[in-house]
Parts: sequence; structure tokens; C-alpha cells
Amino acid sequence: MKTLSRRDLLKTGLLAPAVAAAHGMGPIGAAIQVVGEGSGPLPTSATRKSPEPGAGRERLLLDFGWRFHFGNANDPAKDFGFGSGRAGSFQKTGNFLPAGSISFDDSDWRAVDLPHDWAVELPFENDPALASKGFYPLGRNYPATSVGWYRRVFELSAADADKRITLEFDGSYRETMVVFNGFYIGRHSGGYDPFSFDVTDFATPGGRNVLLVRVDATSSDGWFYEGAGIYRHVWLVKTNPVHVKQWGTFVSAQVRPGEAALSIRTEVNNRGQAAQSARVVSTVLDPSGKAVGKTVTALASIPEGGEQTYVQEMVVNRPLLWSLEERNLYKLVTEVRASGEAVDRYETPFGIRTVKFDAEKGFFLNGKQVKLKGTCNHQDHAGVGAALPDAVQYYRVRKLQEMGCNSYRTSHNPPTPELLDACDELGMLVFDETRMMSSNPEGLSQFGNLVRRDRNHPSVFMWSMGNEEGQANTEKGLHILTAMKAVATGYDGSRPVSIAPIRAIGAGGLAVCDVMGYNYMDPGAEAYHKAHPEKPVVGTETVSAVCTRGIYITDHEKGYVGSYDPYTTTGRASAEGWWSFCNSRPWLSGGFVWTGFDYRGEPSPNEWPNINSQYGIIDTCGFPKDAFYYYQSWWTSQPVLHLFPHWNWPGMEGKEIAVWVYSNLDKVELLLNGQSLGAKEMKKDSHLAWIVKYAPGAIEARGFKDGKLAMTAKRETTGSAAKLAMNADRREVSADGQDVAVFAVEVHDAQGRVVPIADNVVTFRVSGEGKPIGVGNGDPTDHESDKGTSRKAFSGLCMALVQSTKTAGNITVEATSAGLAPASVTIAAKGGTLRPQAAVWEREAPVGSGITGLWRPAPGAGGVSGPLAFLVSDGTIVFSLRQNGNNLTGSVEGAGSGFFGGNDAPIPIVEGKLDGKSVSFKAGNSTYSGKLKGDRIELQRTTDFGSLMPRPAEEPAGSRPAIGPPPDGSDPSRNPSFRLPSGIPVVLHRVQR
Ligand code: GAL
Repeated sequence: MKTLSRRDLLKTGLLAPAVAAAHGMGPIGAAIQVVGEGSGPLPTSATRKSPEPGAGRERLLLDFGWRFHFGNANDPAKDFGFGSGRAGSFQKTGNFLPAGSISFDDSDWRAVDLPHDWAVELPFENDPALASKGFYPLGRNYPATSVGWYRRVFELSAADADKRITLEFDGSYRETMVVFNGFYIGRHSGGYDPFSFDVTDFATPGGRNVLLVRVDATSSDGWFYEGAGIYRHVWLVKTNPVHVKQWGTFVSAQVRPGEAALSIRTEVNNRGQAAQSARVVSTVLDPSGKAVGKTVTALASIPEGGEQTYVQEMVVNRPLLWSLEERNLYKLVTEVRASGEAVDRYETPFGIRTVKFDAEKGFFLNGKQVKLKGTCNHQDHAGVGAALPDAVQYYRVRKLQEMGCNSYRTSHNPPTPELLDACDELGMLVFDETRMMSSNPEGLSQFGNLVRRDRNHPSVFMWSMGNEEGQANTEKGLHILTAMKAVATGYDGSRPVSIAPIRAIGAGGLAVCDVMGYNYMDPGAEAYHKAHPEKPVVGTETVSAVCTRGIYITDHEKGYVGSYDPYTTTGRASAEGWWSFCNSRPWLSGGFVWTGFDYRGEPSPNEWPNINSQYGIIDTCGFPKDAFYYYQSWWTSQPVLHLFPHWNWPGMEGKEIAVWVYSNLDKVELLLNGQSLGAKEMKKDSHLAWIVKYAPGAIEARGFKDGKLAMTAKRETTGSAAKLAMNADRREVSADGQDVAVFAVEVHDAQGRVVPIADNVVTFRVSGEGKPIGVGNGDPTDHESDKGTSRKAFSGLCMALVQSTKTAGNITVEATSAGLAPASVTIAAKGGTLRPQAAVWEREAPVGSGITGLWRPAPGAGGVSGPLAFLVSDGTIVFSLRQNGNNLTGSVEGAGSGFFGGNDAPIPIVEGKLDGKSVSFKAGNSTYSGKLKGDRIELQRTTDFGSLMPRPAEEPAGSRPAIGPPPDGSDPSRNPSFRLPSGIPVVLHRVQR
């Protein structure tokens, strides 16, 4: 017969929830307050639905209500005792450091919500060693700012005793250690790949659960800014023991005339205590939500602790294909049935489309030739660093699409899942890259998880096994990449693999690539194509914009690069050189510009004062540089006419200025103050330029199409700054506490023209149901914090990111600047059902007279030291006291834990008395008595340790011989100076939490 587990007992009701039973208390809810959050799917696409709850599965967002504190990478005393060498971490299971206990005093930990990046909150440090990471103090030389601790308490219901409880991290930077309910759970190394832990055995159903996470950002992967902390979402997942494995579904489609043949693979886990027969019911919903196919497997037995893979086929008639223009998303609804019941329901959005590379004709999506007009991007944005709210992912994808970009390389790491959601929904192809090019277990697991996680996204069209890895070109690289490719084939097999190589095309391990990439080697690619006409080729990294938005004079001391494209070469810094090369070669599938957006770190071509790169076509905020319009001209079919530089050049009268036009019209005429400077024909994939003697006034471009005036563009010498203008990228956000709108400010002159040289300081004031989460201006030399509420304009522009609260209402943002007329914009935060999420937990402070309230041992007063300290965990105790006349009731939390285990559930106070200034009470095996002294309660705690710590024998009776044992037979090994004190002084002071 199987022994019944505690879980089984809880289920049958034979055992009350542990906490209540052990201490004879009422429901645990009496001692705490739960701030309800509600649940339900999110209404907007910007924060895409997680699988709907059902059939025993819940996936709860665990982003809200965290506490954060810096630790220390060198000093255990500043790292909550971690690594001190003393007891309390790895020695015993459970009680892993005081910070992991419910009663731990985290009142000086800062309240944060996820995603959170602490690096972007740090002041810049002018240390050349930090250049590549953006001069943020991280690494071995900056231990005080390289480790962060996070705590989050949440409740599980008694019914969760039946469930498998899993914590899923979408990503955290970089070494993460997870402690749950005082139990060490595990570590994850790697800053970009998702990881999860099944914590079922350590969970407290029907009670509070404490999640403690230590994140160490000392090591770095990149030569670019990477952030620090839990910068992506965390999820609390509850399933039945028989459930679909994480990322355990895969739908691939063969598109045939008039139909698509789907192949559906489903992996089901059995974490129950016996073999279980289960079947899978797969239903496919079309983009309108209508079921268009259903198939049921036979029952198959899944061994205890094992898994089973089910394979199904289904035909969808007249499929609506996913394409860049029509983002048709189907949904696979997987139901697992066991013993006649639905035990799991799992949803997988997917798309039906074909991707193909042709060595002569390039890339095809659904049989249609598509030139890959791509950009590489890091995950970094002004105001928020690496912790991009989902809405900012959508904002960035839309910005790239505005210039005609149709593909995105997730350089150089697995992306945040919501970026892929945005690409699926908005129509952007993704070249999905792993971080570690290796066939070591970590490398294969990172890549395998990437493929498993992302293989149902229709936007993902190719896997990247790495970037500029010299070893890829070697014999060893061949072994590594062969093993990696096998992972992609095993988990997917429907997409090609490639890698962004360095200084080589096709050498060594690169031979395994289905599509040959090349970085910055246009002539080399041409030669390669001639020698290997059978191999498709793509530019995995091509050129960079390398310029500063709104700046036209290169000044390396200031850290600025002028915005003219050095168009004459196909070198690293020429949009025109590369694109005209690429666009005139049909065999070349396209390429990826380095980069779409500027990013922190890699401050090339200058170092300090530059703190961010200038490679982007768009600055860190999302403001386009001039190069944006070059691409927009040749990557979109909309008419474009863009003229630069600006026309505010006091002191430059009579000097020659190069005036450029980006346009896709047939002919452009340039005028200075109404005088024609001549018209020029626009050559495909090119630009136009005039040399103009500067005179204040206006330059104007007139663009002609088919002989007719189609557009005009003007740059005028403006007056001085007079007022602010502001707009928000969205009129409405969802009141979910996470959605974000971008409020962009322009500094205008009295006539409403942007003053292109303005640098006025703008202050943002947010009222109503929003909060500012970051500011920026795109200036690569600005050392002000992105976390403030004011920012100077740069080339006339700056912006603030504003996030909704969870209350519906208006959000008003007011922008002010000394001497300028202010601007104000109001948007709506619309209520609705929130994404399913774990409720935020706060300890309830008892309210009443006298000494009623929360009390904790005052730091530096009382307590014990030496060997006793770790036995009694006196520092993390919290006393909830309720005075009613002379009676004292309440509870003590944390006193029951300690080196030998136990738990820190509230222990009720009994025999509590208050007599004048005298206080006394009992709690568990401890008795407390003492006096009220001003705002403190000075107590003595006597604890009966039972047989655990026998009191030392009395001093030997009679005299000791000089050598040899005492004649009374007492233990000669006993150190007479070590004695358990009869009472431990505990001095309490009032606290809020
Ligand atoms: C490439 C590299 C990118 C970035 C770029 C800057 O070689 O892959 O990560 O460093 O150079 O030009």
C-alpha cells in the first residue's frame, strides 16, 4: 500500500493546513491582509493573454509587490549573511538564511514591481573598464552594486495541495539563486534564457510562501549594456500532476493547395504517484476563434514521474496564412484527459505560413519573395534599461515598421517572449538568436529552450546559433555547431539555422548553416556566392548609422557624430553603400543593419563622455535619426521627402553647408529663401545633395512624382524656445499597472516650429492613474539619470515613459520648463479584467490602543551572539501584539525557526498580561517577561530547548586535581565558560511591517 503523503491528507481533510494545526490558530488569513488583484485575461494585445485558466492550470503573473535590496558580492555581512561561512545556508535543508523567512524584517527593502533593472538606476562611473557596459558600476570592482536580493510573499490556497507548483522566470541578469520558504531551490547561470523550478515539495498550501531571489550581475556576457536583476516577468504556475510539459506543444504545418496539413506534437508529464492513462484532445481555433479542427488520441499510459509524447495530424481547409500584411494567428487548445476528466488545458498560439530560402532568388514567405530589410537590436530602451514593459516592445516594433523594417535579429541573446508576441501580432520576421555558442550542457540547454519556447511563433523564421564566434570557423566549431544544429532539428526541424560569423564566410563549422550569414563583408559575400551558387546568403550584420540625432558636426571631444551617411563605400558606416549593393542582388536575401535602436554601452566611436552607442537608425528613445528616412524611402512604398540639416546656424552666414534629401520621389528641387538651387533626379537607393551658402530663413525641398509636385519639406531658422508641445503615442492604455505610453516633448518657438538646437530642461508631472517610470532624450553623452522626472531636451526633443496604475481613470502628464509655456496631455487608462496574477501580500499591523501593533527586536539592543545566535533566530522575529485592558494576545512569528529546522508560522501568544509597566507572555516554548520603557519593551526570553541543548553540568564539586578528571565524574570535556544564559534579552521597538 502506498503511504499517504501530507498532500493526500490535506486533500481528504484529515490534516488541517499545517500552520493552523501546529499552533491551534484560526485560518492563516487572520494574521495577514491580502490586497486583492482580481483576475482574468487582459483586454489589449499589447499585453498578450497567457493561457486561459482551466482544467486545473493557472499561470499567474508574479510581477507585483516585490521588495528589493542590494547585497554585496564580496562582503557576506552586507549580503544577508550569504557566504559568511557560518551556519544558515547550505548546511541543512531549510532555513536558508534569515532573509528567506516570513518574519524577516524587509522594511528597508525597496518596493519594486517587475520587470526591474537596477543597473539603469546607478550613477555613471568614469572607469574605462566599464565602457562596454555603459559605465554602470557592475563587476568585481563594484561589489556593492553588483548583487541584488528580491523577496516576494504570496499565498497558496488549501486546494493547491493537489497541484504541482512551478516558478517560471522569463529571464534575469545574470546568476540567479532561488530560495523558497527557506529552502534552497537552485541556481541558474545565464542572463537571457528562461528557467523554472518545480517547488511543490517546499510549498505551503493554505498559507504564506516566501520567495527569495539573489541575483548576481557581477559577470557579464556582452560587450554592450545588459541590465541587472529580474528584468523579465516571473510566473507562478499551478497544474495537476498530469499536465502538458513547459513548451510541450509544437504545431508545424505543410501548406498545400487549398489546405494545410498540421502535425501536432504534445508532451505530457506525469508527476503523480502512479502511472496514469491519458489522452490528448487537440482543437484548432481559427483567427476568429472558431474551431476548425479537433482530434483525439488514444489513451496512453504515462509512467509515474515520466512523460509521453502524443503525435496528431489534422488538416485545416483554406488556411488563413500568417504574413507581414495579415497576421492570422491560430490557436491550438490542448486538453489532457485522464480518468474521464480534463486534467489540463494549454493554449498555443501559432501561425500557418511557409518560409523558404532560394540560393538564386533569396527569401520567400508563403511563396512570395521578400527582401529581408532587417535590423539587429539589443534589449535596451531609454528610461527603463533592459526591463522593457511589454508595451515598449510593441512601441519599438512599430517604430521599426514605420521605416519599412520587416525583420528583427535578437542580437545577441534569446529575446523576451513578449517581443515575439509583438512580432507575431504586428508582422515582423524574427531571426532568433541564442547567447552561448556551445555544445556544453549549458549551451545546448540554452539553445534547446530557445527553440522549444519559440518554435510556435510564426514570426520566427530562422535560428541563430551565435554571433561573431571565432571558434565557429574552426574544426572544433564544426563539432559544436553540428551538435547545436541537431538540437534545432530535434525540437523543430521546420526552420533553417545560421550564425553571424566573423571574418569568414563558410569556414569550419559555418558549413553546417542552412543559410550562410556574413557580417560586414559585402565583397566577400559576392565572392562566396560565386563559389557556392547553391547556398542561400543573408547579411547577418551589415552597416551602422553611426550618427547622433540632430547633430551635423562631428566633434569627438563632445562625443557627437554628424548625421551624413558616408555613402561612398560599402564599409560599416554606409546605409546607401550597403543597401544599393544588397538591393541589386536578387540572390542576397537581405540583411540586418547594426542597429535599429541605439543602446547603452559600446560607446563607439568615442568613449567617455559617450555612454551609449550611436549605431542606431533610431535613438534610445525612439526618435528617428535622419538615416531613418533613407531606409523609409527605399524600404516602404509611401512617398518620403526628408530634408536636412536643420537651418539654425547662427554665425555660419555665408558658409557652405551640405544639404541632403532622402526621398523616393522622381525629382527634387531645392530652394533657399524662395530661390531655386536647381532640381535633381533621384536615383534608386540613393540620396540627393546640394552645397548651399548659409543664409537664415528657409530651405525647402519640392518633390515631384510623375512630373507633378507631390510633397514639400521645409527647414526654417526658428526663433528661440518659447513653448513646449507634447504628444502621447497612445490615447488609451489599459489600467493594469504595466501598460505604458510614451510622452514625447518638442521645444517650439513662438510660431510652433521645433527648435532643433534647444536643450531646455523639461520637468514631467504625472497626475491621475499613472506614474512616470523613466525619461530620456537620446543624447549619447548625457549623464543625468533616466530615473528622474526631468530631462533636458536634446536637439529639441525629450520624452517620459508613463505607466498605468491598476485603477481606471485619466492620466495627465504636464511638461514644464522655466520660461516656456507648458504643455499637457491627458490619456485614458481603461479598466477591464486583469491578467491572472498572484495577489500582493502585506502583513497586517494590528490597530488599537496601548502596545497594540507590530514590534520587532531593535537593532543593536539585546539579542544573543556566539553559537546561540543561529539557534534561536532572534533577529527575524516579529511580534503582533493586541492589548485589551490588561490582556495581551497576538502572535510571534519567526521564533520557531532556527538551525535545526521548524517553521516560522505565527505562534499564538498565551497568558499575555500587562500590569502597569510589566509585560509578560508565552509563545510556544518561550516565555517573555519584562517592562515597558518609553517607546521600547525590554524583555527577557527564556526558551526551553528540551533535549536539544542540555544545560551544562554544574561546576565540579570540590577541587580539581592539577592533571586528570574531576573526582565527581563530571564531563572533563565541558568548557565551563560556555553556559546557556538563563534569559536572552530582547528589546522591542515598533515597526510598520
Ligand atoms: C559587431 C558585433 C556587434 C557590435 C558591432 C559594432 O562586430 O557583432 O555586437 O559590436 O560590431 O560595430
